[in-house]
Amino acid sequence: MVTTLTIEPLTATIGAEIAGVDLADELSDETIAAIRQALLDWKVIFFRDQHRLGRDEHVAFGRRFGQLEVHPLTPEGQDHPEVFVLPSGGERRAPGLWHSDVTWRPEPSMGSILRSVKLPPVGGDTLWADMHAAYDLLDDRVKTDIDGLIGLHDYTRVFGALQPPVVQEKMRTEHPTVEHPIVRTHPETRRKAIYVNAAFTCGIKGMDESEARPLLRRLERQAWLPDVQCRFRWQPGSVAFWDNRATQHCVSNDFLPSPRVMERVTVVGDRPF
Ligand code: SIN
Repeated sequence: MVTTLTIEPLTATIGAEIAGVDLADELSDETIAAIRQALLDWKVIFFRDQHRLGRDEHVAFGRRFGQLEVHPLTPEGQDHPEVFVLPSGGERRAPGLWHSDVTWRPEPSMGSILRSVKLPPVGGDTLWADMHAAYDLLDDRVKTDIDGLIGLHDYTRVFGALQPPVVQEKMRTEHPTVEHPIVRTHPETRRKAIYVNAAFTCGIKGMDESEARPLLRRLERQAWLPDVQCRFRWQPGSVAFWDNRATQHCVSNDFLPSPRVMERVTVVGDRPF
């Protein structure tokens, strides 16, 4: 059966709410293709009232889009190791740095699917930035300056930040720094995007830190432009599905100290070019 999706954009270029589909159903290939097209068109898509979507269904839905990754920080023995649990509350902050998921992998994620499990009474919205629009808004001189540059992405930068040096060293051995083009071409839409982020990008290949740092900060700041962003207010049963090749995201920690728990499955992507 083909499901007819209703698509309600949040802005002119990024974000759309999709109605008319229950993600816990066994969806036809045509429906999956329509969701994939909506993702390409809107870069992040939202679904409301997905109350039947538990871990089983979340993983099953994610697998329709490709292989799912297991995050190194997922506790051993967790049922559904592909589910990355993001708990916050008290002094524990949610991921409040703009980033694209797992850029520290040689083949970073194509897309992530996040569902709300426990929400605070107020706050905790997530924001997304359209990194194609962010690139387009750079002036021509900066575009020329960054053409062909390679960014260095480090797993330890965020996940090892509170670890002693010996643990950081072990992490770095298991997940060595990887190189990705600073301007990435989307493999499906062929649009160019800024592909450095404040969480994981630690330098530029062949460039001194004193020169690389201001350039990276300049590029990271493009995600802060309100003109390229959309913002989503979570409700029980909400699901967001974003394209990591085209966007960055950041959660607002304005809900603390209330607890907030989200669960994510992350679809493996291909090597950026
Ligand atoms: C994430 O950064 O993957 C999660 C964002 C959120 O918790 O809203």
